[in-house]
Amino acid sequence: MGGSLFLFLSVLLESKTAKTLFFSTATILLFLCIFAVVCDFRISNIISQYTMKIRETLIEWKHKVKYIYARYTYSIVFIIDGIYDIWLCGSWLSRKRIVNVKGATSYEPTRYWALNIIFKDAKFTENDSFVDIGCGEGRVIAWLINKHFPGQITGIEKDPDVAAIAKKWMEHRPNENVRLIEGDAMEQFYNDYTIMYIFRPFNEEFFERLILRIEEQLTHPIRFYYLTDFYCRKYLTGRQGWKMINRQYIWRTYGLYIFPVPQFYSVWIYTPNNSDPNSYTDPTIGTIES
Ligand SMILES: C[S@@+](CC[C@H](N)C(=O)[O-])C[C@H]1O[C@@H](n2cnc3c(N)ncnc32)[C@H](O)[C@@H]1O
Repeated sequence: MGGSLFLFLSVLLESKTAKTLFFSTATILLFLCIFAVVCDFRISNIISQYTMKIRETLIEWKHKVKYIYARYTYSIVFIIDGIYDIWLCGSWLSRKRIVNVKGATSYEPTRYWALNIIFKDAKFTENDSFVDIGCGEGRVIAWLINKHFPGQITGIEKDPDVAAIAKKWMEHRPNENVRLIEGDAMEQFYNDYTIMYIFRPFNEEFFERLILRIEEQLTHPIRFYYLTDFYCRKYLTGRQGWKMINRQYIWRTYGLYIFPVPQFYSVWIYTPNNSDPNSYTDPTIGTIES
């Protein structure tokens, strides 16, 4: 095979035209090969660059669409909640507003779906006394009444305009187990309560002041529910007497967004007088996981 190729080439290279033809074809082929290698390298580079760009744009759009969907369905949940407010207490409570209280965050009610998730496994007895610290316009109270909470329910709200709305609907739906305290959460007496609920009413400094006050006053164990628990968790973790019994991510339900960004709630037990929180088992906690 090699021998016949050599013979063929030597005959071919005898003729000048064939020689020229042969070398020019070989040169062209060589250039074509080099060109193909370089081009392929560049083309694959260009292709991978474009693929990356397309991928990035798609991911960016996916996040944009998700965010728009979250905001959109969040507003839908807000409206559904307002309609449910009217059904439960005759007033629209679904709004956000700036409050005129030192150290306070703005007013915003807890979503009903969030309440259903937070208290899903909680069991309430007639010996329970529930307090919503910074109760706003009273959505949590309306929800508890609807769930036939068997004990006492108290709401504490400092902003007079916000409290006036809660007071108004409560006057139209009188309930002897419900009371509203229009006053500062920092000045209340907490030993009357067994369950405390709190939805980010104030900043970290005021939260710490509240915890100190609770610890000073309590003579019995309590359950403490905190929604959007950033600094709460930081402050209570490892603190004498406090034990976290549940913490969960709360963001969307049935494909609709409860919050535009992910949030956490946590559930704590506090046992006073330096007793060990592990020694306390609350019979009303039900199946809440520890
Ligand atoms: C985010 S809203 C929560 C409302 C309600 N707990 C709910 O979940 O639907 C917080 C409320 O706490 C109230 N608040 C803030 N600081 C307070 C304080 N020191 N004493 C009483 N209420 C306070 C605010 O006025 C606001 O209405």
